[in-house]
Amino acid sequence: MQGIAAVSVSLGSLSLLRFFGVPWSWSVVASVGVCLGTTSWRYFYIAARTAKRDLNGLYVLLRVKLAIHRHLRSGSTIPSIFSQQVALHPDKPALVYEATGETWTFFQLDRLSNAVAYWALGQGWGPGDVVALYLESRPQLVALWLGLAKVGVEAALINFNLRRDSLAHCVGVSGSRGIVFGAELADAVCEVNGSLAGSMVRFCMGELSPDLLASLQAQALDPLLDSAPCLAPPKSALTKGFNDRLFYIYTSGTTGLPKAAIVVHSRYFRIAAFGYYAFRMRPDDIIYNCLPLYHSAGNIMGVGQCLIFGLTVVVKKKFSASRFWDDCVKHNCTVVQYIGEICRYLLSQPVRAAETGHRVRLAVGNGLRPSVWEAFTERFRVAQVGEFYGATECNCSIANMDGKVGACGFNSRILPNVYPIRLVRVEEETMELVRDGAGLCVPCQPGEPGLLVGRINQQDPLRRFDGYASQDATSKKIAHDVFRKGDSAYLSGDVLVMDEFGYMYFRDRSGDTFRWRGENVSTTEVEGTLSTLLGQTDVAVYGVSVSGVEGKAGMAAIADGMAEFDCDEFLQKVQQALPPYARPVFLRLSPQVDTTGTFKIQKTRLQREGFDPRHSTDRIYFLNSRAGRYEAMDEELHRAIEEGRVSL
Ligand SMILES: *[C@@H]1O[C@H](CO)[C@@H](O)[C@H](O)[C@H]1NC(C)=O
Ligand SMILES: *[C@@H]1O[C@H](CO)[C@@H](O)[C@H](O)[C@H]1NC(C)=O
Ligand SMILES: *[C@@H]1O[C@H](CO)[C@@H](O)[C@H](O)[C@H]1NC(C)=O
Ligand SMILES: *[C@@H]1O[C@H](CO)[C@@H](O)[C@H](O)[C@H]1NC(C)=O
Repeated sequence: MQGIAAVSVSLGSLSLLRFFGVPWSWSVVASVGVCLGTTSWRYFYIAARTAKRDLNGLYVLLRVKLAIHRHLRSGSTIPSIFSQQVALHPDKPALVYEATGETWTFFQLDRLSNAVAYWALGQGWGPGDVVALYLESRPQLVALWLGLAKVGVEAALINFNLRRDSLAHCVGVSGSRGIVFGAELADAVCEVNGSLAGSMVRFCMGELSPDLLASLQAQALDPLLDSAPCLAPPKSALTKGFNDRLFYIYTSGTTGLPKAAIVVHSRYFRIAAFGYYAFRMRPDDIIYNCLPLYHSAGNIMGVGQCLIFGLTVVVKKKFSASRFWDDCVKHNCTVVQYIGEICRYLLSQPVRAAETGHRVRLAVGNGLRPSVWEAFTERFRVAQVGEFYGATECNCSIANMDGKVGACGFNSRILPNVYPIRLVRVEEETMELVRDGAGLCVPCQPGEPGLLVGRINQQDPLRRFDGYASQDATSKKIAHDVFRKGDSAYLSGDVLVMDEFGYMYFRDRSGDTFRWRGENVSTTEVEGTLSTLLGQTDVAVYGVSVSGVEGKAGMAAIADGMAEFDCDEFLQKVQQALPPYARPVFLRLSPQVDTTGTFKIQKTRLQREGFDPRHSTDRIYFLNSRAGRYEAMDEELHRAIEEGRVSL
């Protein structure tokens, strides 16, 4: 009976398919092919188990898609959608700054962004001009980019952790005509003053001494905004539509310097709306947002809920593990945002009353590891985890809408073609696509890890790829002849694995495994285990080369604030938790492991420094397998290992 229900569901949804741009022939072949080709009961079982989930997914997709079509037709932009929210409830709090308790109502946020718009017009900026924003997270940053967008000026959101070369690079490639920096970052601007284009006008937000302002040739922005008109800017100033550029977000790839990804209005809308509908947020929700506003998670998935759906968003300057739940209680938050590390840090905190006395029912984010998922939901009593996957620039987002532990999303097994994403086979070492006899990519079977790719259709805003500001970076992310001859697809660069029900699980980014004793060691898995053993300490695991030995020996850099590290106790626990080939051969105890968004880069440095004690002041240990203990590394031992006189 359930099988029949599932089939009628799948046939019923056929009529919806045209709406998704899936050709009839395809979808019919897909559905009928699935029905006839696999008459096994297994298929009906899977269909029955997943039909409800798929229907819900289809509903979400439909909602988002309909809204996008509506906005395309009416020529909406993010500012115009925001102004509807302002009209609806001008006095409702829009953004709250946690650090000071200051609140901006929708009306106030609108007025401030109008002032920004007039100030930008006064500078002679207009559609197509770019202005770099380099400030720590605070509501004014939103008013700035929103105000610029009101007159078609595009903001480049610069990571406030960047300094020197990387800062100069990001500002440089943006082609900005001006820069607004926060007074708190004046020192960092001083450092790159020489490399900034002389023609770039500079503005400082916040209090800065007149001397410093003068030496940086910067103007104080706040007085200018105070005296600017705060009525809506003239309609004629905004000549942009839903598919035009809104701002740039820098994405850090696994290699090289950050790339500027283009965010168009429709993409901003899509990411926020996808989250809103997929995780069933409500207009009266209050979101606790401690993620940086220069990334899409904080600025789109979080702030977007305020601008587009009228939710209140509490902006936290910087994540604090000890304040997290107290803040949530104080502001009556019902939704929190996370990245994986945040959950781990929260779990490592001592128990406090607020952690269960809050009203948070939903946590939205990505990177929650299966190893801490259930510990997180149980200890903090968070009813729903909304894990999602999707790069800013990628059109292949997926979301975990039904709380399946560990999954970052799903694709329908009944109608896989409705959402044209696929896992395809790649060479694991090189990440090269594997091609079949006809030159097409090879779809993965359930259980088989593969690269996530998304078919590209420039007509469809839900699935368009706007690329990077740099043409070169764009072409590297696109492959041709993937699903069929002549098509093109976006390569996510991430390896996922799908189970037989269509749930997708994150696998390591390429390069995050190494071979040791003929086995593949997953660095993230070992990191998860060690971190759990050590009370959620920061751990980075990587493989290092040893002369004359095949593969890579595992090394774990451990943040050891206490300096009380007990190697014997650690080894005992490791032996119980990890198979011999996955146990770290080398340990490196650092006062701290830098996790400011650049973990990957950090790892390459650690890897290069290896286990040579001359390269750092950190304590390094070697697992002497004969003696069954970790021994402190010195130059003599290092030489002995490199010369093969000590067996590993
Ligand atoms: C900073 O750069 C500006 C413009 O290039 C220049 O006029 C100014 O002298 C520089 N300031 C310092 C302290 O080097
Ligand atoms: C939180 O909710 C309580 C009870 O509904 C209310 O008294 C309080 O003012 C609220 N706090 C904030 C910051 O809105
Ligand atoms: C990805 O983007 C490309 C480029 O526009 C588009 O053709 C494709 O349909 C998109 N795929 C998905 C799954 O969103
Ligand atoms: C390890 O990975 C390689 C590909 O990189 C694969 O060929 C091999 O079968 C894997 N070995 C094991 C034991 O999983």
